[in-house]
Amino acid sequence: MPETRPPLRLCAIAGDGIGREVIPAAVDVLQAVLPDLQVTWARAGWDVFRETGNALPNETVAAARAARAVLFGATSSPSHRVPGYQSPIVSLRRLLDTFANLRPARRRLPPDNGLNLLVVRENTEGAYSRRERLEGDTAIAERIITRRGSQRVARVAFELAAASGRRLTIVHKANVRPVSDGLWRETCLAVAAQWPRVVVDEVLVDAAAYHLTRDPRRFQLLLAPNLYGDILSDLASALADGLGMAPSLSLGTDYGLAEPVHGSAPDIAGQGIANPIAAVLSAAMLARHWWQRPDAAQRIENTVAQVLADGLRTPDIAKPNTPTVGTAQITHALLERL
Ligand code: NAI
Ligand code: MG
Repeated sequence: MPETRPPLRLCAIAGDGIGREVIPAAVDVLQAVLPDLQVTWARAGWDVFRETGNALPNETVAAARAARAVLFGATSSPSHRVPGYQSPIVSLRRLLDTFANLRPARRRLPPDNGLNLLVVRENTEGAYSRRERLEGDTAIAERIITRRGSQRVARVAFELAAASGRRLTIVHKANVRPVSDGLWRETCLAVAAQWPRVVVDEVLVDAAAYHLTRDPRRFQLLLAPNLYGDILSDLASALADGLGMAPSLSLGTDYGLAEPVHGSAPDIAGQGIANPIAAVLSAAMLARHWWQRPDAAQRIENTVAQVLADGLRTPDIAKPNTPTVGTAQITHALLERL
């Protein structure tokens, strides 16, 4: 996490599909609560790749580095291999070394199931090491866990636990992987020793999935290696209000990168019905954790709650046969209440 309040600058990258609908909405909301925010716009994604042969132009990387905070919409990645194409968001996370991925999951729509969870996921190593090979008919993937990588994400998680009063649960599978998950567990427990006020326990990853599904109140903060955190946070967003409402923030030492969990949603892109709340809540996470403006973040969160309480729903979160509104109306309602 940044040590002092970083400058109020943002690089906004809408990307493809509904990114172009929800990111402008989220930027409008941010500027309503942080009028001094300086915003620059940059391009990335499939459309830019088709135009220029580069999904993440150098100017975009330079703009992201200059602003230090990024709000990224989504990119449309083809499911077949395209020579020269690499997902720009995966590249950007790597370039900015945003090692701690924060994915809060809270149920905002009725019926309340008590879910109020923060998943903190290691975002640079583990099963996503990109070290895979085929030896004859045997495929081998190397899963890399380092003490440094585990320590730096654990520190972020404990800081967040201490600030929010959440119990912290270390996720692992050290019973079958005593060396790699063992190092993860041991490193997290060593960081825990520096935070005596934080209540800590641990859980095996499969048991975590089981308990979370049976009782969404069971956990408050899950600290997990990359793949476990990816899977558990998707489960948590399903137990919350779905993709249209799921925000995330990746933090490094020098950069913050917020993005809604959802993709470019080609099935609804261009129709004006995308739910902007995931992007808006991602922007609020930048305000809270990056610019360290909890006041601004809370205003956004409260306004989202008001708009939902007033019954405004995009189609993805509406009950069948009930009235719905579009992206523009929800955004207008948010801005009006702010
Ligand atoms: P998706 O998240 O784009 O869509 C899944 C389903 O959820 C669709 O039915 C979509 O209409 C709905 N949905 C998602 N966000 C919504 C919102 N804000 N409001 C209302 N409905 C919403 O995932 P999908 O369909 O698997 O992928 C589509 C494209 O997005 C692919 O090219 C994929 O590679 C890319 N993608 C990009 C991501 C990123 O940039 N971080 C993440 C996930 C997928
Ligand atoms: Mg995922």
